[in-house]
Amino acid sequence: MSKDPLISENSDRHGGSLHSSGSHDSGLHAIEVSGLTTRYENGPALLKDFSLTVQTGECVAIQGESGCGKSTLLHCICGLIPRSINAEVAGTIQLFGRPVEEIPRHELVQTVGIVFQNPDSQLFCDTVVDELAFGLENVCLSQKEMSERIEEYLVLTGLEDHRLTSPKNLSGGQKQLVVLAAVLALRPRILLLDEAFSQLDELGRSQLLAHITALHKIGQTIVLVDHDPENLSLAQTTVRLGEQGNGG
Ligand SMILES: Nc1ncnc2c1ncn2[C@@H]1O[C@H](COP(=O)(O)OP(=O)(O)O)[C@@H](O)[C@H]1O
Ligand SMILES: [Mg+2]
Repeated sequence: MSKDPLISENSDRHGGSLHSSGSHDSGLHAIEVSGLTTRYENGPALLKDFSLTVQTGECVAIQGESGCGKSTLLHCICGLIPRSINAEVAGTIQLFGRPVEEIPRHELVQTVGIVFQNPDSQLFCDTVVDELAFGLENVCLSQKEMSERIEEYLVLTGLEDHRLTSPKNLSGGQKQLVVLAAVLALRPRILLLDEAFSQLDELGRSQLLAHITALHKIGQTIVLVDHDPENLSLAQTTVRLGEQGNGG
């Protein structure tokens, strides 16, 4: 992180800038994964008959050995598998009571946001500001609200001086911040974080963690894949993937 964008300060400065629709989602489970098994072409079965329920407002950590299918699980939950990544999928996934495959794309991006392990795979625009705008163009916002959101999340992530920079020219940590900003700006009801802080420096990590913690406190549903004990402390529940009876 190139600057000191103190998240707590930003949150205060923006008054009611901590937005989570989670607190309005009463009644239904946020995520209901039932009997999920996936298989990439010519690969072995992964997540064998795996089931998971995430309550609205809950933060669940997913842990497990490298290669056991943590990222695959998150890709299934957000619908990327099989919409964009080819894999066989058996079982069902419902988000707030709706099968993920039935949720139209413009609604899906506001239902579930994912920050990938590798930010390069999520960045493709010429400038930082375009990355944020791209996601927001898929949802129905006025020009004014779109500009306000872009500004808010650039400030939150300390990227305001990089708005016209090409993401290609940013460090790994800064790229992760761009992806986080773009995903958070959509204010998804469910946030999936796949080792999302792994390339941030200590200051950036603790600031983003503070923001995500604050979001969680006001009802944000989160699924977190992480190794850092401090990041994991956010979670009420930890699921170990890959063990017998748990996707193994
Ligand atoms: N797009 C893909 N095509 C084929 N195999 C994949 C793909 N993505 C992941 N895999 C394989 O699936 C297994 C699980 O991967 P992944 O879900 O990334 O595990 P984890 O996140 O727990 O490290 C690994 O063996 C990996 O090589
Ligand atoms: Mg992974």
